[in-house]
Amino acid sequence: MTSAMLNRAREYEAQQQKTILPRQRPGFHLTGAVGWVNDPNGFSFYQNEYHLFYQSNPYDVHWGSIHWGHAKSTDLVRWEYLPAALAPDMPYDAMGCFSGSGAALPDGRHLLMYTGVERVTRADGTQAELQAQCIAWGDGINYEKDESNPVLTAADLPEGASDTDFRDPKLWQEPDGSFRAVLASDRGDGSGQVLLYRSDDARAWELVSVLDQSNGKLGGMWECPDFFPLGDRQVLLVSPMNMEPSGLEFHAGNNVIALIGSFDGRNFHREQAQNMDYGLDFYAPQTMLAPDGRRILVGWMQNWATCSFVPAGAKYFGQLTLPRELHWHGGRICQQPIRELEAYRKNRVVYQNVFVERETVLAGIRGSMIDLLLTLRPEPDCAFLQIALRQGGCHETTVTYFPGEQRLCLDRSRSGYRFDVVHTREIAVQPEDGTLKLRLILDRFSLELFVGRGEQTASVVLFTPEQEDGIAFRARGNAEIDVEKYDLIIEP
Ligand code: FRU
Repeated sequence: MTSAMLNRAREYEAQQQKTILPRQRPGFHLTGAVGWVNDPNGFSFYQNEYHLFYQSNPYDVHWGSIHWGHAKSTDLVRWEYLPAALAPDMPYDAMGCFSGSGAALPDGRHLLMYTGVERVTRADGTQAELQAQCIAWGDGINYEKDESNPVLTAADLPEGASDTDFRDPKLWQEPDGSFRAVLASDRGDGSGQVLLYRSDDARAWELVSVLDQSNGKLGGMWECPDFFPLGDRQVLLVSPMNMEPSGLEFHAGNNVIALIGSFDGRNFHREQAQNMDYGLDFYAPQTMLAPDGRRILVGWMQNWATCSFVPAGAKYFGQLTLPRELHWHGGRICQQPIRELEAYRKNRVVYQNVFVERETVLAGIRGSMIDLLLTLRPEPDCAFLQIALRQGGCHETTVTYFPGEQRLCLDRSRSGYRFDVVHTREIAVQPEDGTLKLRLILDRFSLELFVGRGEQTASVVLFTPEQEDGIAFRARGNAEIDVEKYDLIIEP
């Protein structure tokens, strides 16, 4: 049975969604039906369709009253909104249905697992928001919260762990039908750890191990863990809060890190760590295993440090990234835009061996919804090579390559974002034989950059007026480029 609170959210979404014109939204990046969006949740393949849920506040463009919004797709490019799936309508989740995951079960049920937040008064009279894990069973539209909720509580935590920072279950089913879930936890000293649990029925859970912990080195609390094999490695994805910067690899604040190593079924042995996105707007990603074996990742294309700066008049705020395919290559996790996007490519324009002058503009190379593939070949005397995108009026967003320093600089200070927040990032890159390949996906309000084979990515949100879609190339010194551009045409 759907509660009055969930019905109200569903009705509100249905009404408000119509007031947002298709061109006011990205073409193929998922936003909330209306209002606020943060983390992707419940990413799964259920009854031949991809389901993607998201942390949602339908009533405001700021975080609060956290529901689960819901959308589905057959190709991960075109999304159809479904009615909100979960509302904070039970005592154990009254402060929000926080992040979690989903699994399609062999018996036809769709299982969701999420964090319920409850405000309590402790024995000493202080107030606390307890976090515990809950489950709900559904059919792709309606989800019934389990009677035994919450199913995983502070009583199941290891000694000393915090009961107010215990969240974001990522569950999966093993071939023998049993369940595993990884959970984010604060050790009790402000430092993060990931816990692995096991269950036969998704109701009774037991702690298997502490998979990894920050030890005060890789940030504080680790949010939104995910755990999966990739190639011959095992990956533990975490979103650490409050990190110290480290060279050009990790920036200050919230990062997304892949811890890479091996897993013996109980314990994880970390061997290396890598940043999962070098842009400004990327957090709390979640993966799913597609039926064809691809490991597909989608992230929140925003960040906590800047997300309160919402453009005036916005009816929705926040987007999810384009889903990305993960591959293990050359000792790194590489990410590529999902291949389904290529079916929407139109109007191919190609240039080869273009000598870049101070300001080079190429006929047919422009657009705000495009797939742009570039090969940069700077000569030894080239100080920099710059790509200026979304040009027009006083606006432009630039990607500048400094070959001598093997560095890319991303700058959206003039992208139309009217707040004095962080707008630039520097990325250390590794050209191959003096050549750097870039792929840029533009979708009205964002740029996602893929470097090389996807060894690095950088996601940024833009607020540039749509008609400002010029592209120019600039160089100091000699440089040649190849350019291949496709319009991405996705009918609403
Ligand atoms: C990550 C996060 C999660 C939490 C959710 C609340 O962005 O802080 O840890 O479940 O957002 O909306």
